[in-house]
Amino acid sequence: MSKTAIYPGTFDPMTNGHINIIQRSLELFDKVVVAVAASAGKSPLFEMQQRVDLAKQALCTHQQVEVIAFDGLLVDLARQQHASIIVRGVRSIADFEYEAQMAGMNRQMMPELETIFLTTHSQWADLSSTLVRDIARHHGKISNFVPAIIEQAIMEKLS
Ligand code: COA
Repeated sequence: MSKTAIYPGTFDPMTNGHINIIQRSLELFDKVVVAVAASAGKSPLFEMQQRVDLAKQALCTHQQVEVIAFDGLLVDLARQQHASIIVRGVRSIADFEYEAQMAGMNRQMMPELETIFLTTHSQWADLSSTLVRDIARHHGKISNFVPAIIEQAIMEKLS
């Protein structure tokens, strides 16, 4: 039976750390649905559709990846997608506390939904989308942290 996992996030923007989690998820599941959340509360730099388009471009070589937008509860998206697995990357103990809480609440709402945590590769353990945006805003080099297409989009957005 084919297994689909959902990898949700704000992806403002998608970084090499996210891509590493997606590549490793593809070793475990037949298909990975990258679900770009509206996350209005985070006041994202990029509009939701731009984040979707950038993620699609960054992941265009991965045929078993689908990138979609969503603006609602993750459990509702999981039901729509007939998916029973959520993948989340965990960088630190601090991440784990927040992630365990979300996984627990999602389980309360949808008991059959399982959240799988992948530890972030040590190379990307300190990375965050906020820090990438901040470095770019101050004219620092971000090419080591994001794909070239995303670096270009950030530069255009901030110029
Ligand atoms: N490498 C590098 N950075 C990583 C990473 C990795 N492997 N994994 C996460 N990050 C960073 C992200 O860049 C992001 O940085 P930022 O805070 O500076 O933007 C941060 O870790 C966490 O972001 P992300 O993984 O995108 O998650 P999020 O907290 O923005 O999104 C949702 C959380 C969208 C999954 C959650 O809010 C959700 O499910 N929303 C839908 C509504 C809902 O169902 N709510 C009820 C939940 S119980």
